[in-house]
Order: sequence, then C-alpha cells, then structure tokens
Amino acid sequence: MNNTPIKFTPILLSTLLLTGCPFFDDDDDSSSQSSDNTIIVSDSLAYYAEWPTIESKVTVDTDIESQISVILGQMTLEEKVGQMIQPNLDDVTPEEAKQYKLGSLLNGGGSWPDGDKHASAADWAAKADEYWTALDEAYADRGFKVPFMWATDAVHGHNNVFGATVFPHNIGLGAANDPEMINRIGKATAKEVAATGLDWTFAPTVAAPRDYRWGRVYEGYSEDPEIIFNYAGQMVDGLQGGNEGLKSDSQVISNVKHWVGDGGTQDGVDRGENHYSEEYMMNIHAAGYFSGLKAGAQVVMSSFNSWHDDANYDQTGTGEYNKKVHGSKYLITDVLKGKLGFDGLVVTDWNGQNEINGCTSSNCPEAVNAGNDIFMVTARTDWQPFYENVIAQVNDGTIEMSRIDDAVTRILRVKMRANLWNKPKPSDRSLAGNDAILGSDEHRALAREAATKSLVLLKNKDSVLPLQANQQIYLAGSAADDLQKQTGGWSLTWQGTENTIDDFPGATTLKMALEAQVGAENVFTDINDVTEDTIAVVAIGEDPYAEFVGDIKDHQTIGFADLKTAYAADLATVKELKARGMKVVTIFFSGRPMYVNEEINNSDAFIAAWLPGTEAGGITDALYQVSGTDFTGRLSYSWPNTLCSTTINRVPMNIEGYVTPEWEQDISGEHMPLFAYGYGLSYAIGEESDVDLDNLTLDSRDYGCGQDQPDDGLATIPMESTVKRLAVSLHYVFLARQTAGRVLMYLLR
Ligand code: GLC
Repeated sequence: MNNTPIKFTPILLSTLLLTGCPFFDDDDDSSSQSSDNTIIVSDSLAYYAEWPTIESKVTVDTDIESQISVILGQMTLEEKVGQMIQPNLDDVTPEEAKQYKLGSLLNGGGSWPDGDKHASAADWAAKADEYWTALDEAYADRGFKVPFMWATDAVHGHNNVFGATVFPHNIGLGAANDPEMINRIGKATAKEVAATGLDWTFAPTVAAPRDYRWGRVYEGYSEDPEIIFNYAGQMVDGLQGGNEGLKSDSQVISNVKHWVGDGGTQDGVDRGENHYSEEYMMNIHAAGYFSGLKAGAQVVMSSFNSWHDDANYDQTGTGEYNKKVHGSKYLITDVLKGKLGFDGLVVTDWNGQNEINGCTSSNCPEAVNAGNDIFMVTARTDWQPFYENVIAQVNDGTIEMSRIDDAVTRILRVKMRANLWNKPKPSDRSLAGNDAILGSDEHRALAREAATKSLVLLKNKDSVLPLQANQQIYLAGSAADDLQKQTGGWSLTWQGTENTIDDFPGATTLKMALEAQVGAENVFTDINDVTEDTIAVVAIGEDPYAEFVGDIKDHQTIGFADLKTAYAADLATVKELKARGMKVVTIFFSGRPMYVNEEINNSDAFIAAWLPGTEAGGITDALYQVSGTDFTGRLSYSWPNTLCSTTINRVPMNIEGYVTPEWEQDISGEHMPLFAYGYGLSYAIGEESDVDLDNLTLDSRDYGCGQDQPDDGLATIPMESTVKRLAVSLHYVFLARQTAGRVLMYLLR
C-alpha cells in the first residue's frame, strides 16, 4: 500500500487549474482552497467516517405495512419462495410462472417477447399481460393475490426495445455535468418503459470506475464520487419519483447498482477483487447510494465483485468464503439494510450467487442468508432446482424462516408502494401499448441535447471548429456511419452488436447528421473528390461491448490503436489525411478514456464523443455552432498520457490525506493526466491547453499493462489478427504458451 498522501503540489494544481477545469460552477461559492493548496470540493458531497443512515423520500406507510402482515401471514412457504425467484424471459412460460407462483421475471439484454427483436410496445405489453394474468389465476382461490413484476435494463433509455430513444451512456452524461437534465432523462426513460407495460428498471448504475481497463467504465458517470452523488438521486427521482410517482402509470421502480464497489476491482477486472478500505468504499464507491437511496430507490442490486476487507466476515460457515459481495452478510444486511436503513429489496445480479465459493446458480443458501431477497436465477434448469432447494433449506433449518419473511416482506412492500394491487393489467395502463411514446420527438430532442452536452472538446487548433456550412467535408473512419459505435453495449442486444441501422428506426448516424446539416452533396466519402479546402472529419471508435467482454487484458494497454487491427486502421486514416495537408477533425467514440496521443498529434481538432446514442444531430449542432451551440462538456474522467495510466483518478479532494492504493498510480509522477478531470474547451474558452498538442510524446511501451516485460514482442498483438496464416499460427502458439504459462503460474502461486 503506497502511503504517500497525494498533496496538490503547485505543479499539479496549476495543471488542473490551467487546463480550464471548472471543478464546480464559477458561481459555486461552496468550494474553497485551503492553505496547503488542497482544493476542498463543494460540500454537496459530505465525507463519511461511518456509514450514514439514509432517510428515504419514499416513506413508511403504516397501511401498507399492515396489509403486508396480513398477506404474509396467509402465504405458504412455497408461495413465499416463489416471490424470491426471478427467471429470464426466455426461460419461463406464463404457465410455469403460475405453477411456481413466481413474483417477477427479467428480460436480459437481447431477450424480447417471443424472440422478436422488433416487438412493438403493444407486443411487450401483451406479453406482460400473459404473466400478470397467470399470477392472477394462480391466486384465484387464495383470498389474496400477489401481482407479478417485470424488470429490464433500461440503462440509457429503454435500450432493449425497438424504436426506443437511446440516450448517451453514463460516461457521456457525466461529462455534461447537468443533474437537472439527468432528471428529465429519467422521466423520459420511465415513460418509454411504462409504454411497454414493464414495472422496474435495473438503473441507474452508480459505479465509480477507477481503472479504464474495466469493460463497464462507460456505465459509470464518473471516476469521482461528486458527479455520481449529484446524479444518482436525480436519475432515481426521474425514473421513479417519490411516493406518488412510484404509484403512477408513468414512472417505474428504480434500482441502484451494483452494491458495492463494482468499479474498484484490481486492474479493472470485471467481477474481480476490490481491495479498497471501508473508508474509501464509503466515500468513493457508495456515494451514489447515499443520494440514490435518499431519493427513494426501492431496489439495490448486489455486485459480482468481491471485497477483501476484514469487515467482510465469513457468514457462510464453509471456511472458504471468497469475499464475494453476493455472500456478504456484512455489506447487504448489516450495512445496507442495517446502518443505511434500506427497507426496499435487494436483488442478485445474473446468477450472482454462483460467484460464491461452494455455491452454484441452483443452490446457494449462503446468498439467501447474506440478505439477498430476489434471486435472478435465469435458466429454467437452475431456477426450478433453486426453488426446491430453498424450500428444503428452510425445512432443514439451513435458512431461517425469519430470513424468508424479511425477503418477502420487502418484496410485498416494493410491490405495494408501486401500487400493483390497484393497477390494471399492463396493457390497460394509461401509457401501455403506445408506440408513439417510444422514440418520441420530445425524447429524441432530449437525447440530442444530451449528446451535445456530453461532447468534450480536447483540441481545437487555430479554431478549426466551428465548421462552416460552405465547407466541403470528407468523412472517413470506422465510426462515420456505424450506429453501433454510437450506441455501444446494452443496445437491443447485450453486447450492442448484431444490429443495423434498420434496428433503430428514427436514429441518426454521424454521416446522416452531416448530410442533414450541409447537404449530401457537400459530404464526400471518396478521397478522389476532395479539394485542398476540403475538411476531413474522421470518426473513429471502439466496437461495442458489455461487461467482461470489454475488459482490457494484462497483455494489452489502453492504447486505442493497439487494441484491434481495425483501430490501427483508424489511426492510419487520421495520419494519412494529415500528411496530405488537410485539416483533420477527429471524433472519438469510446466507452472510456484511452491513450490516443498520436491521433491527437495528427488532428487539428479532437472531440471525445463517448457513446452518444441514436441522435448524432447533437454532434453536428456543436460542430457547426448551430444557434450558438457550444461545447460545454467537461471530463468526468482523467485522460491518460501514457499507455498504462489506467487508474489516474481525480483524487477525491475532500478526503483529507487520501493515499493512493498500490494498484492506483500516483498522479504526481509519470501518470499525470494529459487532460485532468474537469478539462474541456469551448468556443468561448478557445484553445487554452499549455501543452503542445501537436507534438505529444509517444509511448513506446511494447508490452501489456499487466506485464513486467515484453513476451517475444507479441505481447501487444491485436485482439483480432488478420495477418498472414503464419503469424496467426504463431499468435496461437504464443497464446497457447501464455495460457500454459498462466495455468502453471496459477498452480504454482
Ligand atoms: C448483468 C449485469 C447487470 C444487469 C443484469 C441483468 O450481468 O451485471 O447490470 O442488470 O445482468 O441483465
């Protein structure tokens, strides 16, 4: 553990301040500079020495509590356990839901009603009716009923649904630094979810991604807790509202995730080990819960990662507890439900119980005893035995009935607060089945506003921007006309792949937006059509990914052009056009900050566009300064200047004496960010960086960030290899050796 406290030395401070980083609004008088040059962040974000008790905006209703007691007292053990099971849509029929008296289901990314990717709002609502009605029938002779719920990942709009508005992913929203807009996005998203007859969205993600190698960086608003804290409550309020909103037909149950520390795993390994202290867990990783739960979020989702702190005691009794959060009675019961006072329900992640040593997806009393209330046990071959196993484990005393009653009490409470006993079946609800709500002009305009506000202008040499309407544009790069690179993961499919523009009716690619702005006759894609005055707009970017699929591995770096052959081609395009003497405006679509020094050197303007969604018109609005549109986005993540500056986080300045954990880099040294948290240019500010952005030092490292030295020079071979067969076989020889080496290392560890 590196105990050298990071002090904001004059150099670092001046870099941060000179790069135009408005850490807080100019008129925010709550920030101050202490005598030793440590900037104290505005006190909207308190510092916690202990877990705080959170007063939820959704208050206890004594009538609801008494109704819960009456129903609970009548339920059989089987009925109670049925409430705790949540299969995936593809693995449960309405008949099975009726037979097992299930409480809810989810549709995972890429699961649609009857497998129809283009299902309409009415199709979704009709499918919801089938389960709703099945459960109505299941309780017909019981003198009471327990309504069914359907949950979905509407995490950047209602993104699994054909025709829905797809907003920028959270990383872009974080750059917008506009909490009020977040509330509006929540409200719009909730309406689109309600239009399909669904009840609950697994959003917002309130992770604090600390290592850019993580495949889920883009799902986090920021690496720093301040924006996350300011946003989480707004998104929850927008999606769900308070007591009244939650009961209405136009808002849905909100779910903060993933509890806790998902963004703090070592080396950014998805579902990996979090070694942060409890103090930092509270003040960096839990900030979004403090505001999200205060705003009334009714669900918390447990996280796949483990937490390696002594406080996370072994309640499993197996002696082999691997500190996985899904099995942490300390974090789920003692802290979340106890100290924070959370009275909603806790849902596992996708078979998350399986992560606990000794558990399988179908058998895990340890996860029940830790305090999870609903189990996302997705496959039929797992959820049915899981159901039987829990019943048996209650009967044999492995699980106390009081634990089951706590879980079901919370489930009934959330359902009653959502007014499910009084709502009609899904398709009869006021917004349900209304396709006009999906992708409405109003919502698309909001997504366009968000896309504009999410852009961060990193370079604008000689004010090459704004572009002029009479300039001819040569459009190039892999992201020029590729909607998938704009929408990223969690877009119709889990990975955001296997989609075409036809899967997103009403969507606008960058090419479409440019043609709409200046006329197709002024947008060229054939290099032979260019003249000496033609401006090159080069759109480059990452292919879409989700979760661990997007993890950058030990043998790789965060160098964009190193990761894939196609990405190297993007760099080559930028360099080629620069070498031709053209003005080059580069737009970078990515799920995270990456090392792009050579791309920046060869660009006259460089824009971080993140994953802006379906409304690329928001990009051209800024490029052309339409109606005075300016670049107002500011980095909510530090921008790396070397191939392995993977954890150069803004030091949470309100944590006095913050020390850099050994796996995080001390940003006062080689890992000083190229652009600090809060950096961003605008037409008003103009080019202000005091760094020569034409001659950035290129990092010559030729081995991965998780390696100490090169492996025969093949270490940074791209993820995909399109070189000749010989090299490919060499590649696999290398991988085989590497794998064998890894296995050996593992065995010898
Ligand atoms: C995934 C994700 C979680 C998502 C869930 C349901 O594994 O970790 O964020 O809500 O499964 O799709």
